[in-house]
Amino acid sequence: MEINEKEITNCSNMKKLIIISHPLVKRDLTILRDKRTASHSFRAVLRRTASLMAYSVTEDLHLQEVKVETPLAKTKGYIVPIPIILVPILRAGLGLVGGFVEVLPNARVGHIGMYRDEETLKPVDYYLRLPNKLNHSLVLILDPMLATGGSAAAAVTVLKNKGAKHIKYVCLVAAPEGVRTLTQAHPDVKIYTCALDRKLNKKGYIVPGLGDAGDRMFGTEE
Ligand code: PRP
Ligand code: URA
Repeated sequence: MEINEKEITNCSNMKKLIIISHPLVKRDLTILRDKRTASHSFRAVLRRTASLMAYSVTEDLHLQEVKVETPLAKTKGYIVPIPIILVPILRAGLGLVGGFVEVLPNARVGHIGMYRDEETLKPVDYYLRLPNKLNHSLVLILDPMLATGGSAAAAVTVLKNKGAKHIKYVCLVAAPEGVRTLTQAHPDVKIYTCALDRKLNKKGYIVPGLGDAGDRMFGTEE
């Protein structure tokens, strides 16, 4: 499963892959990677990182011009005319929701329940609850880890089948394998990540990664 430097470079060159490299994001990702970071800190830092990521993810949002009256004069203002739907992949995706809604307070939230079978590494879906009007909305899929890409590709397929047309995929750490799988399955979906890591290990974990994001958030393996 080792991926060479050339493949990482190829991935980084893909137009659909955006690596968020703001200094504060890099600082926070370091805290999240650190094995000594306890669950309560992990949750808080993940939430803060999500808010920082939201700036990059919404950088190309189209705005609608409106009039606004300040206490002194009338002037030009802007609104976001397109509805935004956040779709965390359970469980770990939940950790990104709070940070996104802080800066996108009108966003609606759908949920996709999916876990990876430990043997086959294939995604198993167990829950789906989505807001309506997916086809008129910008849909942001949230999940900290893009490993084999199986869960991400399956989630995008589910959302497209339900009518979503404008989808972005947002993760904290990606493996080259996951980027390749998702891009091949859904070339129209932009991928945002804070880091493109080296490889997957034999158990399908991202290396160096940050371990099992769900377990670290919820303290299920302590
Ligand atoms: C993790 C992660 C992704 C998936 C990524 O979830 O949050 O959803 O693995 O792996 P993939 O790219 O190989 O599909 P996990 O299956 O551990 O479930 P959990 O969030 O409930 O812990
Ligand atoms: N899921 C995780 O939580 N971490 C990984 O490294 C891979 C899949």
